[in-house]
Amino acid sequence: MEKEALRFSHSAIASYCEQWTSCSPTVLHQSNPQPFTLGELEQLIGPIMDTIEPGVALTYTRNSGGHKLRSSIAKLYEHNEADYIATFAGAQEAIFCISHALLQPGDTVVAITPIFEPLIKTAAEIGCTIELVPLLAKNRWLLDLRTIEQKIRSGCRLLILNFPHNPTGAMITQDELDSLITLCRENNCWLLSDEVFRGLEYDPENRLPAATDRYPRAISVSVFSKAFALPGLRIGWISCQNKALINRVMEIKSCLSICNSFLDESLAIRILPHYELIWERNRELLHHNLQKINAFMAQNSADFRFIPPDAGCTVFPLLRNQTSVESYAQKLVEEHNLLVLPARLFLSDLNAFRLGFGYRENPDHLVAIAFS
Ligand SMILES: Cc1ncc(COP(=O)(O)O)c(C=O)c1O
Repeated sequence: MEKEALRFSHSAIASYCEQWTSCSPTVLHQSNPQPFTLGELEQLIGPIMDTIEPGVALTYTRNSGGHKLRSSIAKLYEHNEADYIATFAGAQEAIFCISHALLQPGDTVVAITPIFEPLIKTAAEIGCTIELVPLLAKNRWLLDLRTIEQKIRSGCRLLILNFPHNPTGAMITQDELDSLITLCRENNCWLLSDEVFRGLEYDPENRLPAATDRYPRAISVSVFSKAFALPGLRIGWISCQNKALINRVMEIKSCLSICNSFLDESLAIRILPHYELIWERNRELLHHNLQKINAFMAQNSADFRFIPPDAGCTVFPLLRNQTSVESYAQKLVEEHNLLVLPARLFLSDLNAFRLGFGYRENPDHLVAIAFS
């Protein structure tokens, strides 16, 4: 099943959503918190638009991102080193460039499912062997460390992690992260750590260290669209201690977006110092909506097996009855005009779907997803 899904030339999620665009469904699977309006953001952190003065030249910016921007991003990491940062037009461009910089046909990549498919799509298109290890659906989502270890020890160029996790909302512990890093170190394996939801842990005490701060061959990826709730600011970034890799990745980016939008970069510099306030606004919203999801799932526990999330804006409920999630998702669009995403799009064969709860109005639609 995995191989079939990888043959899509568009991402599997984009292709699936495309087939329903003509009915303009209400989207109930978003993976970001409610995007800020300009007014709401300015109320929280003060004016930002005055940063763009009339005399300023609307020109190209530096390929890797201006020094001011990279210094502001570096403050999110223990290393606080602007030279370890490079910026992109979103996280997805970063993932594409990293995959091309690191991988050759025939390399092995180990990743965990369910997975945000673009994390492995480029590697698959390059001709890598993708080894997928499912999360275990117990009373929490659990990492199958033994299987991951076997796969890495059999020869692996790149391990891909994404915690906090899309779509389950799972976290791993710091001990688990340490074990994975030790495994990578012992096997000379690169680590791509997608940390776009870092900051949205419901208990900030559980926040993991950024992989880039623990391992020289780790690449931490982040972006404004998720924990910052600013998808309209198209800036993503990587942090990596290996300057040769950063240089290679920048060569690839120079064939794509080349550099950031000047306007986005100017606003980003103004916004970044307020990251704590912004993450807190998002966590409050998620906490509020999650209470409603928990109550709904408790009331409908005969139909859904619900594994509570630890972070982020999405959950991955399993259907308990015989209905296939494909027909369930189709019925939700056709009868209720609500779009959720079946597990197949995350290369998982669980009978489950991604439900987003980061928008203020998300809980209003819950009743429609019930079975009776
Ligand atoms: C885990 C994960 N990584 C990366 C991205 C890409 O972020 P962007 O679309 O802002 O580039 C997403 C988007 O949904 C995501 O869920």
